[in-house]
Amino acid sequence: MTEHEIKINFKSCNTISDLSIAGQQLCAEAVKAQEGSHSPYSKFRVGAALRLQSGKIICGSNQENVAYPSGLCAERVAFFNWGANHSDDPIEAMAVTASTDEFELTHPVASCGACLQVMAEYEKKQNKPIEIILFCNNGPVWVMKGVESFLPFLFFEKGLVKAES
Ligand code: THU
Repeated sequence: MTEHEIKINFKSCNTISDLSIAGQQLCAEAVKAQEGSHSPYSKFRVGAALRLQSGKIICGSNQENVAYPSGLCAERVAFFNWGANHSDDPIEAMAVTASTDEFELTHPVASCGACLQVMAEYEKKQNKPIEIILFCNNGPVWVMKGVESFLPFLFFEKGLVKAES
């Protein structure tokens, strides 16, 4: 048995004002997107904003349901909007933020595995990584180059076919 180590790289800064203007604008849209959150059960508002190559920004927010599994995370609401309506305009970056009145968030919230898997699908489709910016009201900002930073053992389509010998 051999032991292996995987390292991931990400950048961090203290506030969103340390980001580029484009990054700051994207974060502002993610904050605004939280207004559309339907989260009566968790009381946790999540906003996601995608910047497309054309400069257009599209957003999503978490949509909960009384039948809990029927709800959807903010990231997937934004990604599926892109997939359905904007897929000819590649995604350059995604900003995600969250807030709640129940307590103060002091660290960014990382996207869940299902959202990362959806992101991986679209990175593959557009053949380009999507920069991820995670931030909250009162905490550091984390910037990742793409989904592989989160999921180094990502399930990809080669897993679906017999390996060539
Ligand atoms: N949520 C997101 O919107 N994105 C994530 O990546 C994790 C969780 C939402 C789902 C649910 O509405 C609330 O946060 C609490 O889990």
